[in-house]
Amino acid sequence: MASLAGPAWAASSATKAQEKAGAVLFRDKGCTYCHGADLLGTKKAPSLATIRKDKAWTPEKITTQILDGGQKMPPFSDSLSDEEIADLVAYLRAKKRPIPPPAPAAAPSAPPK
Ligand code: HEC
Repeated sequence: MASLAGPAWAASSATKAQEKAGAVLFRDKGCTYCHGADLLGTKKAPSLATIRKDKAWTPEKITTQILDGGQKMPPFSDSLSDEEIADLVAYLRAKKRPIPPPAPAAAPSAPPK
């Protein structure tokens, strides 16, 4: 799926809601595991902190990277919807990246009685 028809990020500017959703996805979908919670990178993956200013990383290219993965990055085309990927791109390209709300504790399952 190389061409996304009318993706949300093509609109002049991503909405704050998208940026926030992307921040949560970035944390919850495991991106932080390799790229770090602060986006500064880890031994596993490069920093994404300044990707917004990197002209080589267009929204299209970021989208493709997330969809298809890379050398050591797994593809997320099966686990993320186009909309979620657009949210992640909005987050990565946000001028001021929103801080995601605190991680929820382990999925709340009904407590034993
Ligand atoms: C298993 C580790 C791993 C996970 C999980 C991971 N990445 Fe990556 N990512 C990498 C590596 C390694 C690279 C460097 C290029 C390559 O090998 O693919 C990379 C590159 C990137 C790039 C391009 C930036 C660059 O300088 O190469 C983007 C954008 C990116 N990742 C976003 C994400 C997002 C968003 C997620 C979560 C949906 C994610 N990554 C999850 C390992 C990971």
